[in-house]
Amino acid sequence: MEKVLLVDDDEMSLMVTEMVLTEMKYEVKSVMSGAECIASLKDDHFDLLLLDVELGDANGIELLKQIRKDPDIKDTKTVFLTVSSHREDMTEAVRLGALDFIRKPALPETLIRSVRDALSAREKETILAVDDEPMNLMATEEIFGIRYHIRTASSGEEALREVEERKPELVLLDLHMPGMDGLEVMARIREIEGCENLPVVFLTADDDADTEAEIFKAGAMDFIRKPFVMQVALQRIRHVLELKHLQDSMQEEVDRKTEAITENNRKIQNLSKQVILALAGTIDAKDPYTKGHSSRVADYALEMAKRMNKSEREQTEIYSIALLHDVGKIGIPLSIINKPGRLTPEEYEEIKSHTLRGYDILKTISELPELSVGARWHHERYDGNGYPDRKAGEDIPEVARIICVADCYDAMSSDRSYRKALPQQMVRSEIENGRGTQFDPDIARIMLKMIDEDTDYKMRGDTDGK
Ligand SMILES: [Fe+2]
Repeated sequence: MEKVLLVDDDEMSLMVTEMVLTEMKYEVKSVMSGAECIASLKDDHFDLLLLDVELGDANGIELLKQIRKDPDIKDTKTVFLTVSSHREDMTEAVRLGALDFIRKPALPETLIRSVRDALSAREKETILAVDDEPMNLMATEEIFGIRYHIRTASSGEEALREVEERKPELVLLDLHMPGMDGLEVMARIREIEGCENLPVVFLTADDDADTEAEIFKAGAMDFIRKPFVMQVALQRIRHVLELKHLQDSMQEEVDRKTEAITENNRKIQNLSKQVILALAGTIDAKDPYTKGHSSRVADYALEMAKRMNKSEREQTEIYSIALLHDVGKIGIPLSIINKPGRLTPEEYEEIKSHTLRGYDILKTISELPELSVGARWHHERYDGNGYPDRKAGEDIPEVARIICVADCYDAMSSDRSYRKALPQQMVRSEIENGRGTQFDPDIARIMLKMIDEDTDYKMRGDTDGK
């Protein structure tokens, strides 16, 4: 429960105010003198001081000066509640950082609103008032200074400098000024970095609907016509600032959520990558002689994709598809996969079935349907004599044509159960000879270039277990 210290030497007024605040569930302590006020503040913490100006033993303004000088209590939030209508009192109250200046007798709504505002008051916001009339600027300072820090500028140029340097929370702008007029100033403010959405409220004596429409169209948040009623103007400024704070906190929330979603997506992508890698590892683990085959094929396919100027996204996709091209081997008996001698025709058929088995496994992954493409068609030949569907030429998906070249290069450049790795020149000739028959000629040419650049035959890596 928030605590309010109420200081008033008028018993009746004290009683009424206390009743209203107690009803609103504030904890209220009432005192009638300046001395008691200071003693209470020093004795206990209060969230708000509601202070009369004319007290029997003291003047409220002088009392607030004293409070501001005392390090223990100087930050006490203060609202004046008084019959005084002296301009000097009000100006001085503002200078001393009072949050409001309410006239007695105050309506309960006014009192409650003021207390609520004061209690929830952030650090005083800064408003930049722009007007070429010094009298208008003085009046603005007096009226809005009660709640806000007011900075002033008497021309458009000065206003732009202030905005750039001080970044106020709101600009109160005169429409008609010599030189740069209000609309131009607003347009220039919008160009300043970080000020694209800075609230601008126009103040003008103009009385025609067209001007009003033009101002709103240009992006002003509000329009206050002079002469205005002080409380109304204060309320409108407050609403504009509240709206701005609301927008800012919504934007923060959106940013926070977006970041969380991005992080989540990143985690999911990482997880998919790990699952794919684990799956590829399972295939390779079945055959010690082809250990590392899947990841080597994926590396070669990735390098070819880069050389084909594929986008980052496509490169990642091709890498994943290549990693899983032999996943169907999971379903083939170990005795056939690891058989050192020649395969019987039945066994060969069984081995060939790894393309369709892989396709069946991968097509169920609805998130990445293209994963299955590499598994099914990487043994197709460009001349149409491959398996399982005898597809030819560009009918064979491009990624499968890439994997086909990478797969054959690895098969020849690594040790197998029935032979050692072939010399690089022989591998090169096989690929050269296969151009247009087994391989897509353009894709094979890319591999030939990679072989030619690999003068030490290092590209194949550690074929014994990479
Ligand atoms: Fe294969």
